[in-house]
Amino acid sequence: MTYEPKSYEHLKGGAVKGFSDSQLDLHFTLYKGYMAKLNEIEEKLTITSNTKPNYSFNEYSELKRREAVAFNGTFLHELYFENLGADAAISPGVQKALAAQGGQDKILADLKAAALCGPGWSLLTRNRRDGKLHTYFVAEHHLGLPIEQDLLVVLDSWEHAFMVDFGIRRADYINAFLENIKWREVSRRFDALNTSGAGGQP
Ligand SMILES: [Fe+2]
Repeated sequence: MTYEPKSYEHLKGGAVKGFSDSQLDLHFTLYKGYMAKLNEIEEKLTITSNTKPNYSFNEYSELKRREAVAFNGTFLHELYFENLGADAAISPGVQKALAAQGGQDKILADLKAAALCGPGWSLLTRNRRDGKLHTYFVAEHHLGLPIEQDLLVVLDSWEHAFMVDFGIRRADYINAFLENIKWREVSRRFDALNTSGAGGQP
């Protein structure tokens, strides 16, 4: 299939406090670039021979090595844009899950600390193994990504996400992001899960 980029124009015009239109436009362009590469890789995989894969170099092997970069680069951005735009409507389920892990302030401090680890992604997830909320840092788009996670909050910590508005002040950008979390969307993601084992007690 060919993926088509979504429009996030509604985030512009001051809808995300502290985020300028030029910053968002740049980011939308990068997101579309990842999607174009994902389409290119998936297309080439359908016509490239898989008969001589090789650790050092082979066209098929290179496509497979970069596939997750383009895929995650595309859909992490969609999750990021979609959990952006302040909305404080937190569902009871999310409130309970946050409280079980030390509360919202503790979780957000962990999310911020993960985002300060470097360029990549900071994630708040529900871990399917223990049913609890976790924060993780993923370098680039694909390095260190833990399996068995349902993504709840997705925070882009690449410089391109904030250099226009915040320069090198990564912490200021992260603070602005945390104030702009769309908790209504986070709640929708959480409440859509089968949480029968939530809390680690299946
Ligand atoms: Fe990004």
